[in-house]
Amino acid sequence: MLEFPFPFSVPIIPFLLPLLFIFHILYRYFAAPLYHVPAAHPLAHITSLWILYIRFRAIENQTLKAAHGRLGPVIRLGPKEVSVNCVKGGIREVYAGGMEKGDGGYSWYSFFSNYGGVPNMFSTAGNRPHSTRKRMLSNVYSKSVVTSSPALLAQASSILYERFLPSLSSTFSSPDPGVLNMYAFLCATTMDIVTGYIFGLASSSNLISNPKQLDWFLDLYNSRRSYNFWPQELPNLTEWVRRVGYRLVPKWVDEANGEIEKWTEGMCESAAAVLRLSEVKVEDTPVVYQQLSAALSREAKKAGNEKADLTYPIASEVLDHLAAGFDTSGITLTYVIHQLSKNPSIQDNLRTELLSLSPPLIPSSAPVIPDPKAVDALPLLHAVIWETLRLHPAIPGPQPRVTPPSGCRLGPEERSYYIPAGVRVSASAGILHSNEEVYEKAGEWRPQRWLEKVGEEKKKDMESRWFWSFGSGAGRMCVGSHLAVYQMKYIVAALYSNFETHIIDDTGIEQSDAYTAPPKSGKLMIRLEHVNTG
Ligand code: HEM
Ligand SMILES: *[C@@H]1O[C@H](CO)[C@@H](O)[C@H](O)[C@H]1NC(C)=O
Ligand SMILES: *[C@@H]1O[C@H](CO)[C@@H](O)[C@H](O)[C@H]1NC(C)=O
Repeated sequence: MLEFPFPFSVPIIPFLLPLLFIFHILYRYFAAPLYHVPAAHPLAHITSLWILYIRFRAIENQTLKAAHGRLGPVIRLGPKEVSVNCVKGGIREVYAGGMEKGDGGYSWYSFFSNYGGVPNMFSTAGNRPHSTRKRMLSNVYSKSVVTSSPALLAQASSILYERFLPSLSSTFSSPDPGVLNMYAFLCATTMDIVTGYIFGLASSSNLISNPKQLDWFLDLYNSRRSYNFWPQELPNLTEWVRRVGYRLVPKWVDEANGEIEKWTEGMCESAAAVLRLSEVKVEDTPVVYQQLSAALSREAKKAGNEKADLTYPIASEVLDHLAAGFDTSGITLTYVIHQLSKNPSIQDNLRTELLSLSPPLIPSSAPVIPDPKAVDALPLLHAVIWETLRLHPAIPGPQPRVTPPSGCRLGPEERSYYIPAGVRVSASAGILHSNEEVYEKAGEWRPQRWLEKVGEEKKKDMESRWFWSFGSGAGRMCVGSHLAVYQMKYIVAALYSNFETHIIDDTGIEQSDAYTAPPKSGKLMIRLEHVNTG
């Protein structure tokens, strides 16, 4: 009789399973390719659940900042994720080195596609398709084109003299004279200017003069923010769960996106109609729309696809620009005004500088506005904007990339680590900007630091190497930075040439811990006072 040669009589499975599990954990711990990289949390060695939980709770910024402070410039956030906080061996390798936003499959940025997944420049993961699109667009956003554009100048003049200043003056006839929510008002202004440049004035938004539409838009736009976690960090789970009939993101978020998409399509249609006219007023020129639609048509023609429907590729692209453009600039300006209201003597000095412009940006100069190059050259205005971009970056947190197939080395020379392919890696502007060696008293808002005479190396550190509000790397850094600075400088100039600002209520002014980081409260209540400009 054949006997089974098994020595145990006890059930084996219940013993073996826990053993295998422990072995698996030890294996993941010690054999992990990132084993040597200091872990921000013990669990980060074996699972990404820890960092997901941190993201879910919206405490990523403070958590990463503390972890880098404790553990140095390269830290491990999960089995396949690191965060860097240095220039050499850090942002230089990752961003200037052109690491991609995804590795063929999933990209964190796919979330930013519009119209049900139509990609745009920002959401495109791979460098090749991205650079084709960027070549179509970078010229209209270059500094030389922005600062010499007759269309943009006419748009800015019209918006500042005919909407912005009259609307601020009209607050004095309200029950609460001179009081307004500056955050909302600034978002309206940046949206009007950005859509003015994209679609032309006749086809753009007029949120300044339509407070109801402004409320409608900000409500839709901001209420969606807290639901980004699931689709962005766990897109497959979100999708599976949806398939079995449960929604991690409520339906109204999709509906809100749909309404914003429809609104954008309307502006596209209007811009297309303007381009069919025989004569177009300079301020009605849809500069970005015209360039993009012409370039995409040429591309389709070259591919032998003349009849391609470009409606959604165009709309997805410009929707990303108007969202990126209004939101980030509106946030930055809110903190400019908050800080200037807390620092009346800097506010006074700034006003003196602004009133030296010729002509000054006051109603009696209309419709002439001072030359953009003269505005750009004002030293204190520049320092105020730069110090705010530094201390309150509108995109303060991680900007993920993926390490290349060959892997890479990260970290300063004396302490660098080999990082294999396919690891998510990111840096954060807020943490880079808190480097005390580059920005002394980094936690304080001190525009003066940009005016002090410093050596060449120090200047480079402050202005370019460590300054990261617009990201870095010719490939993916902010394409709209010159338009952003242009509009922010004009808006601050128009405001402080005519008004003083005082804080009425700034509760909840702290930045949210999110990708783009508006004040937690979504408001900044300010009281205006007219200044006597004689
Ligand atoms: C204060 C204002 C602004 C800030 C702080 C800001 C910040 C940034 C940052 C950090 C990135 C890089 C993101 C990454 O690499 O993951 C970026 C990209 C981008 N920004 Fe801005 N931005 C601002 C204004 C604007 C404006 C006015 C526009 C209008 C067109 C704009 C359009 C874009 C686009 C299209 C990209 C994607 C570029 C690419 O993928 O090549 N931004 N921005
Ligand atoms: C990030 O966290 C640090 C430390 O808690 C804090 O000082 C800073 O203001 C935060 N920044 C943002 C943009 O939330
Ligand atoms: C998630 O889904 C995408 C496409 O739908 C796929 O390429 C990817 O491999 C999936 N990821 C995981 C971890 O299953």
